[in-house]
Amino acid sequence: MYKIIEDLNWRYAAKQYDPSKKLSEEQLEIIKESLRLSPSAYGLQPLKFIFIESPELREQIKPIAYNQNQVVDASHLLIFCTYKSIDENYIDSHVERVAEIRNTPEERKLMFGDFLKKNVLKIPIESQENWNVHQAYIALGQLLHTCASLRIDATPMEGFNAVELDKLLNLGAEGLKSVLLCPIGYRSTEDSYQNLKKVRRSFLDLFETR
Ligand SMILES: Cc1cc2nc3c(=O)[nH]c(=O)nc-3n(C[C@H](O)[C@H](O)[C@H](O)COP(=O)(O)O)c2cc1C
Repeated sequence: MYKIIEDLNWRYAAKQYDPSKKLSEEQLEIIKESLRLSPSAYGLQPLKFIFIESPELREQIKPIAYNQNQVVDASHLLIFCTYKSIDENYIDSHVERVAEIRNTPEERKLMFGDFLKKNVLKIPIESQENWNVHQAYIALGQLLHTCASLRIDATPMEGFNAVELDKLLNLGAEGLKSVLLCPIGYRSTEDSYQNLKKVRRSFLDLFETR
């Protein structure tokens, strides 16, 4: 079997973590770099990844996540956040960064900035918020695969009250909102879910050729 398929079969959404097993700094760096390298529309990355280290804070988050134990037991708790909107300043700093890294000539830089502003700022705020959320899910997919290839467990979670979490972490003050939780660590040997066969829709149902 190809390694990529082996990795994807190895992973599952862990329900119970072993609290005694922690990720190394090196593993954490790889995970962060994978998130950083995640693609996004126009490369804007309207994202923020918050690692919650404080055990007290994780205890406070647990009831907000419907008491799912992974929130406190996993080695790390990652929160995927997105900006609620993208403004002119955000685009300007993105364009500056691109120009600096790629040594873009001034004229092309201005054209790129105008192009982005024309296309992005015309999107209504509610749609922008939604569009930014899509970018977080791309990063989630990439993270899940990266973790699987490192044999690290990760549980994508939408099961939490985002309004309460945003309030607890004061995310609104930074123009952010929480989109996903993702505990990361090592599965407990007691977690019976690891023994379940994968259930996915059939090739016939999922694919079509025209
Ligand atoms: C966006 C998203 C949200 C999810 N939310 C939760 C959750 O809150 N709690 C949980 O235990 N699993 C959650 N899951 C895990 C799914 O139930 C799981 O991925 C799915 O049943 C497929 O099983 P597998 O990932 O173990 O192969 C979520 C998965 C995704 C992709």
